[in-house]
Amino acid sequence: MHVTSSFQVQGASGQRPIVDVVIMAAGKGTRMKSKTPKVLHTLAGRPLLGHVLDTAAQLLARKVVVITGHGAIEVEAACAVSAGATAEFDLNFVRQEPQLGTGHAVQQAVPALADDGVVVVLSGDVPLTQADTLFHLISACAGNKLALLTLEQRDPTGYGRIVRTGDAVQAIVEHKDASDVQRQITEIYSGIMAVPAAQLKRWLARLDNQNAQKEYYLTDIVKFAVADGVDVVAYKIDDAVQVAGVNSPVQLAELERAYQLRQAHRLMEEGVRLADPARIDVRGDLLCAHDVSIDINCIFQGLVSLGEGVSIGAHCVIANAVIEAGAVIHPFTHIDGEKLGVTVGVGALIGPFARLRPGAKLGAEVHIGNFVEVKNSTLAKGAKANHLAYLGDATVGERVNYGAGSITANYDGANKHRTVIEADVHVGSNCVLVAPVTIGAGGTVGGGSTITKSTEPGALSVARGKQVSIANWARPAKKPKA
Ligand code: UD1
Ligand code: CA
Repeated sequence: MHVTSSFQVQGASGQRPIVDVVIMAAGKGTRMKSKTPKVLHTLAGRPLLGHVLDTAAQLLARKVVVITGHGAIEVEAACAVSAGATAEFDLNFVRQEPQLGTGHAVQQAVPALADDGVVVVLSGDVPLTQADTLFHLISACAGNKLALLTLEQRDPTGYGRIVRTGDAVQAIVEHKDASDVQRQITEIYSGIMAVPAAQLKRWLARLDNQNAQKEYYLTDIVKFAVADGVDVVAYKIDDAVQVAGVNSPVQLAELERAYQLRQAHRLMEEGVRLADPARIDVRGDLLCAHDVSIDINCIFQGLVSLGEGVSIGAHCVIANAVIEAGAVIHPFTHIDGEKLGVTVGVGALIGPFARLRPGAKLGAEVHIGNFVEVKNSTLAKGAKANHLAYLGDATVGERVNYGAGSITANYDGANKHRTVIEADVHVGSNCVLVAPVTIGAGGTVGGGSTITKSTEPGALSVARGKQVSIANWARPAKKPKA
């Protein structure tokens, strides 16, 4: 988890305020038309709620209270995984059943909230709010004001409107309760606020549901603040993506594209050459050194690092891998290190159509060609497997040449065994190396051999049926028709 706080927040006392985060995630998400709870749908490969938890971590929150309802068990389980061991905050869940509105949702969190913090209210379905924006909001709250994150919306239909007298915020009026004049207001409430906990609790206790939707509106606390003489401040941003919620598959796809385009621009600003910023997807963290170029339609997942001068061809999928300087990954290559990782050494040439699986550790200048699969194997400097081959659970020495169509038979139906191919070995085409087996250094294996016993260094090993040729042999012929 990245912790970036480029913005220093000072409370009224000059101290950094204690931040507790409440994340509303009880809603059903009917328009997703899915069995999966809305907040568990993924953006950039992570659940929406995972993004919000990341943001909370960046705020250095003391406590995070997630309000669950629909799909609570699933959401709570996923949160625990998403927040992981890296999150510093204390993660809590509260159930809201039934769901009687956003005010009712936050009421459920009250017993979990201490009085001394500033509460930042977020939604589990609003994934792309930047921590810096929230630091500004917390700063506007200053430990004693009600701070609302707002936005100008050309079409404000459906949103709560910020009602002001002069400059002063008086209330938030929900669309369904708004008068015609109020509906003309284009400044809307984003759904995000920062509020001193003690005051929040007092105001929540005063909510009722006398409104068009018969719901307890969190937004009603604004008028209580005004009545109590507490300042209400609006921190207005113009970046709609940061407060956009996901209610439908269309909105989810729109936000995914917005997110990916931002990643692409960030990469280009770091000097990465992208053939087309609209055709790259980064679902995790992609770290690039100088002079990296990436052709169209590549997907990066998990943690991937690309060394100086690395070139990635079109249509590659690369996950959890370290690609060292100068390596070239040709088109349509699939690399997934999962937990073990994959390393591609300096100046290696991979693909097209190669597949590198967990534990593939390729040294410098290794060549892996088309339709070659490597799993849990180490290839030393300069080893080559250029065509249609499988290397699984193998240790391959320097300069080995591994022929087309050859495989390591690493699995006996119960256990996996290792194959050792020492330096400078030449394995011919279409060989089967039945593990456990060692091919001694500098040895040669004749094409078509099935090797079941280890071979001596320097030996030529041939293990196949001897060729028989019958001279002048007449092939069977069809009888002529009568
Ligand atoms: C809310 C705001 C509105 C604002 C808009 C921004 C209120 C009353 N209105 O409207 O001013 O412009 O967000 O998007 O707050 N949720 C629960 N439990 C509930 C109801 C909702 O957990 O009982 C969760 C939802 O899952 C969602 C979030 O709260 O994550 C916001 O709920 P939603 O129904 O989208 O709020 P709106 O009515 O659209
Ligand atoms: Ca809504």
